[in-house]
Amino acid sequence: MKGIVLAGGSGSRLYPMTASVTKQLLPIYDKPMIYYPIATLMLAGIRDILLITTPKDIERYVDLLGDGARWGLNITYAVQPRPDGIAQAFIIGEEFLGGAPSALILGDNLFFGSGLRQRLVNAAALEQGAHIFACRVDDPERYGVVELDADQRPISIIEKPRQPLSNWAVTGLYFFDGQASEIARQLRPSPRGELEISDLNATYLARGTLTVERLGRGYAWLDTGTPETLMAATQFVCALETRQGIKIACLEEIALSQGFITADTFARMAASAPVSAYGRYLKTLLSDLEIEARPTPLRVVGA
Ligand code: DAU
Repeated sequence: MKGIVLAGGSGSRLYPMTASVTKQLLPIYDKPMIYYPIATLMLAGIRDILLITTPKDIERYVDLLGDGARWGLNITYAVQPRPDGIAQAFIIGEEFLGGAPSALILGDNLFFGSGLRQRLVNAAALEQGAHIFACRVDDPERYGVVELDADQRPISIIEKPRQPLSNWAVTGLYFFDGQASEIARQLRPSPRGELEISDLNATYLARGTLTVERLGRGYAWLDTGTPETLMAATQFVCALETRQGIKIACLEEIALSQGFITADTFARMAASAPVSAYGRYLKTLLSDLEIEARPTPLRVVGA
């Protein structure tokens, strides 16, 4: 499965923070926002990633992420000239996908929770149809909203409905079979002038091949489109990381645990990491690794 990160848009709701810095490079606590969606794709086992952004911002992403080889990834880039809609990612990414199944993640979506990796891996095994995640929210009118029947099967999907039929928001992480580009090409712009991802999902729904998985209690899904949600995401990551001494979306750590890079490569990155909390964390992981790698001392029988 291939991955697409959509990191364009104007970021107008975060103006003037986004006047010269693109939204998805703003920090969420201790790392750039874009690390979080990339980490999510990595946890799903995805290594071939297309990052789509604006003509103005592409160089900044290349500067930050390069070809992704240091994390065992293959990152390529494409431009979306105007924010003409999320579903356009599949038209822009058609050649990259080459008819392969794909996961699309929005560059401002952050996922966290126990057991998330397994859920992502299961979703990434998809070959036919589409699979999306839904989360309960208090303000569904801000999102794509899915209505579910008693057996949790989807009945309808509506983008930013005035009168939401449920509180289940569709998150910005979508798994599609190899037909997504072809379907995206047939979509027409919505009244607000965008190729809507909800219309792409609705096409799969009409074909009876859309499945919806609810992320219930125990999962955090945060989007970071407004100053308040950006701050909430920062506070969430800060609280967890400082309390537990772990890092969320540490790409080097995930690359190692997924087997995308060797322990030697990790050791080199950790050793050369700049002096910072992030760098210290890599060094701590490295010393943990070295301890684990030490031969177990022989126990003297009877001692
Ligand atoms: O976050 C989940 C929600 O994301 C879904 O529930 C909605 O169905 C979906 O439409 C989307 O809603 P948003 O209101 O958050 O969409 P927004 O226009 O803010 O775009 C989300 C991100 O995608 C944002 O970081 C900018 C980027 N984007 C958006 C568009 C429309 C692009 O890169 N290009 C685009 O053309």
